[in-house]
This record gives sequence, structure tokens and C-alpha cells, in this order.
Amino acid sequence: MAGKVVTENVTHRRYVSKVGLTGPAAGVCSITMRGTLMFLGQMASHWRTTGAIAPSGPSLARAMAKMVGDIRPGQVVLELGPGTGSFTKELVRRFPHNRIVAVEFNSVFVRSLRAALPGVTVVEGCATQLPKHLNDLGIAVEDVAAVVSGLPLLSLPRHISTGILNAVAEVLPMGRRYVQFTYSKRAWRKFDPPGFRSHPSKRVWLNVPPAVVLPFTRAG
Ligand SMILES: C[S@@+](CC[C@H](N)C(=O)[O-])C[C@H]1O[C@@H](n2cnc3c(N)ncnc32)[C@H](O)[C@@H]1O
Repeated sequence: MAGKVVTENVTHRRYVSKVGLTGPAAGVCSITMRGTLMFLGQMASHWRTTGAIAPSGPSLARAMAKMVGDIRPGQVVLELGPGTGSFTKELVRRFPHNRIVAVEFNSVFVRSLRAALPGVTVVEGCATQLPKHLNDLGIAVEDVAAVVSGLPLLSLPRHISTGILNAVAEVLPMGRRYVQFTYSKRAWRKFDPPGFRSHPSKRVWLNVPPAVVLPFTRAG
């Protein structure tokens, strides 16, 4: 498993050059008007990492957080690709007694999230490196209650998506939730992530565009 996960520097450099990112604002996602305008601009030039035509709305954020289910106080919720925090804010609201750790590789979003949500641990890094990020924070994988992903896995380079799914499998204990969103449930079938059992999905019509919440449980 570990051999499949590329190293942080190689992953990031290859990823950045492959998707043509040119600045720290690449992959912009925001729920503010300014952020939305930035998002639209970035969507045109960096479709592959942005992976959406608009930032996620509150209905989708609520549906994502709800799919996490009940967790114990003190456990950690790991969020991937928070952007400017549409899901993060809902996770903080729904899980006030839990630590939220958000992994984002765009430094502009990292700074913005740290300023807006000082109670959230924001890691600047790639989601392929989850074991390393948790280790650096001194968090044991047994304490990870769930992984919530706002990553556009379908539009990322395939080796990155595979690396991310492998990393999620490494840090999520058996029986716990991995919640992913997608705009195309059909296209997502090709992933069929090994090591996870899927559950009935939920379509969220009140999002632009309508999205689908895909809940998985870590299974052997
Ligand atoms: C479609 S946006 C979603 C943002 C937010 N969750 C939402 O739904 O509005 C994808 C986010 O994932 C981030 N991202 C893309 N690839 C990543 C990776 N390999 N590791 C960490 N973050 C990544 C982008 O920078 C961007 O902020």
C-alpha cells in the first residue's frame, strides 16, 4: 500500500505541472461573492483541479456532514480539499466537540481558512500524504472518526486520485465513514474504491449543479 503513495514533493510538483497551475489561487473554491468570482475565473483556466462550475452550497454541506453519522467526542474528522470552507464550516457546526483537520494544497485557501476558522487544524499539503500529515500532528489513526472529501477526484490525474484513495484507506479504521461528493454518480462507478463498502447515495438538488453524496464504510 505505502509503495503506491507518491512522495509529497514529487506528487505536488508533478500535479502542479500536469494540471497547468500557475499561481497560488489555482483551484479556487469559495462561498463568498469574491470567492465565487475567483472560482469562475479559475474554473476557466484550471478546470481539472477546480472540478466544479460553482462552489458547494449549504444544502450539500449539510448532506455531507450528516452522512458522517454519530461520532465520539474527541475523535478527529479529516476533511480533504476544503477550498474556502463550505464543508468545513458545517463540520465545525455539527461536530463542536471534535477536532477538524483539513488538508488543502492551495496556500491561498490555507491562509484564508486559518484566518476564518482558527479552531480548525489546516494542513497545507497533498491529500495523497494523509499518513504523514497525521503523524506530523501526532494523531493516531485510531482517532480518525471519518474522512469527508470535497476533492474533484474525477477530474484529477488518475494516479493522484488513486493515491488519495489509498491514503484514505490507510488512515481510516475499519467500519468508519468516508464521504465523497460527485456530480456524476455514473462516472464515479469506475473508481469502485478497493477497501470500501458503498452505501445508498443521496442526491442534493439544491446545489449548483445538483450533486450526489457518496457514503462509504472502510471494509476489508
Ligand atoms: C472542487 S474544490 C472543493 C472545495 C470545497 N470543498 C467545496 O465543495 O466548495 C476542490 C478543492 O480541493 C483542493 N485540492 C485539489 N487537489 C488536492 C490535493 N491533492 N490535496 C489537497 N487539496 C486538493 C483544491 O485546491 C480545491 O480547494
